[in-house]
Amino acid sequence: MTADALARPVTAFARAVLEVAALDVHLPTEDGDVHAVRGVDFALEPGEVLAIVGESGSGKSITSLAILGLLPKTARVSGSVRFRGRELLGCQKGRCNTFVDGRSRWSSRTP
Ligand SMILES: Nc1ncnc2c1ncn2[C@@H]1O[C@H](COP(=O)(O)OP(=O)(O)OP(=O)(O)O)[C@@H](O)[C@H]1O
Ligand SMILES: [Mg+2]
Repeated sequence: MTADALARPVTAFARAVLEVAALDVHLPTEDGDVHAVRGVDFALEPGEVLAIVGESGSGKSITSLAILGLLPKTARVSGSVRFRGRELLGCQKGRCNTFVDGRSRWSSRTP
C-alpha cells in the first residue's frame, strides 16, 4: 500500500462500485521476477466506463486479471480491490467467488 493510497479520504470512493488501490502484481518466471503492475489506483462510480490504455506489456491484461482473480496461483498480488465495498483480494478462491448485494452481482469464474 502506498502512502498516497493510505492518505486518500475514505469518502473519495464512497459511491464507487469498484475501487482499486495500490494494486501491485509480481509474476515469478524462470528468468526472474516480473513486476507487472505497480501501484494502480482507480475508482468507478455507477454508470462509468474505464478504458485502460498503454503500450504492449505495460500491464493492462495483468491488471484486469488481478481484479477478476484469474492470475496464476504463483502470482503475488497486493493492494486492494473492492466491489461495492467488499474486498476481493485474498478471498476469491473460495467463499467469495460469487455474491449478490441486491443491486449488482460479482461472479469470478475461470474461463
Ligand atoms: N504469465 C505471465 N508470466 C510472467 N510474466 C507475464 C505473464 N503475463 C504477462 N507477463 C508480463 O507482465 C507484463 C505485463 O503484461 P500484460 O500482458 O499485462 O501487458 P499488456 O499491457 O496487456 O500488453 P498487450 O497490449 O500486448 O496486451 C509484461 O512484462 C509481460 O511480459
Ligand atoms: Mg493485454
